[in-house]
Amino acid sequence: PHVWRGIIEEYRDRMPVTDATPVVTLREGGTPLIHSEALSALTGCEVHLKFDGSNPTGSFKDRGMTMAITKAKEEGAEAVLCASTGNTSASAAAYAGKAGLTCGVIIPKGKIAMGKLAQALVHGAKVIQIEGNFDQALTLCRKLADTYPVGLVNSVNPYRIDGQRSGAWEIVDQLGRAPDVHCMPVGNAGNITAYWRGYREYAADGLTGGLPVMRGYQAAGAAPLVLGHPVEKPQTIATAIRIGNPASWEPAVEAARDSGGSIRSVTDREIIAAFRQLARAGVFAEMASASSVAGLLQLHAAGELEPGQTVVCVLTGHGLKDPEWAIAGAADPVTIPAELDAAARELDLV
Ligand code: F0G
Repeated sequence: PHVWRGIIEEYRDRMPVTDATPVVTLREGGTPLIHSEALSALTGCEVHLKFDGSNPTGSFKDRGMTMAITKAKEEGAEAVLCASTGNTSASAAAYAGKAGLTCGVIIPKGKIAMGKLAQALVHGAKVIQIEGNFDQALTLCRKLADTYPVGLVNSVNPYRIDGQRSGAWEIVDQLGRAPDVHCMPVGNAGNITAYWRGYREYAADGLTGGLPVMRGYQAAGAAPLVLGHPVEKPQTIATAIRIGNPASWEPAVEAARDSGGSIRSVTDREIIAAFRQLARAGVFAEMASASSVAGLLQLHAAGELEPGQTVVCVLTGHGLKDPEWAIAGAADPVTIPAELDAAARELDLV
């Protein structure tokens, strides 16, 4: 059987590497494209979920991080740095650990899911919390990287985007062509930039049979691209996309415009509903990721989906990152004696 080698090896001819490049990989990518019977039946489309929560550190960030850390290593860096709402820091810490690089992460205090914080800590990153939001953390990191010898591995680093194009290529390889509609969450806007580039490059090589309409979704309380101006105090339960001034603003707007798509907002309520629906059907994605499905449901409700279309929703991170939120909305487990009758009654078997 074919053994997946990670996105740099799998797509080596499309990546900025040479034979001398010291590839740093945790075998990221190769994530499942899961057909959703429930969402397909509801919408009349063929809906697939690209579950990037199954990457090594549980989010799509690994696609960009393998590339960014590989290049940092190649260029002789000793230390890397990032600002993060959680997933980037988890990924940077893991790949820096693998590469033997020092890693610093700057995060908004109290606004990081527990699992993500745990990851940065166990992988040995120096974790700094600020009394501020992601946008302020990123500004601080950019100044640090301008002043001191430390490599910035946020998605303003072009190698991050290079690696994240692989998501689009995998979808096309898995479907045999590009989807008609591509739905995804948007925060700092690097990923929608990367997907659109990936689709276009594959299309230019005649591999896609067309291009998807790109539909990006921000959380309503953190929707600068929808409002057309930065949001000073972004708010949403989807902490991963709690961002008020996306770094990749222009290319994200271009992706939506040039594909005939849009960047819209979904409310926290819509995000939670999509999260529950996904989880009930066996797919545990994190809150921010569910915004892609919330967006799909919104398109359907507005009558904007043509039946029969092929749709891909990207699920960017794993639900286990943030068990507190998941448990808060679920029923409590019952406690019984370890007895047959009691168990059978509780399971409605008698
Ligand atoms: N989904 C998840 C789970 C994320 O962690 C992020 C971004 C996004 C979507 C949005 O992607 O920023 O490329 O538009 N998380 C970053 C972080 C900001 O620090 O982990 P984007």
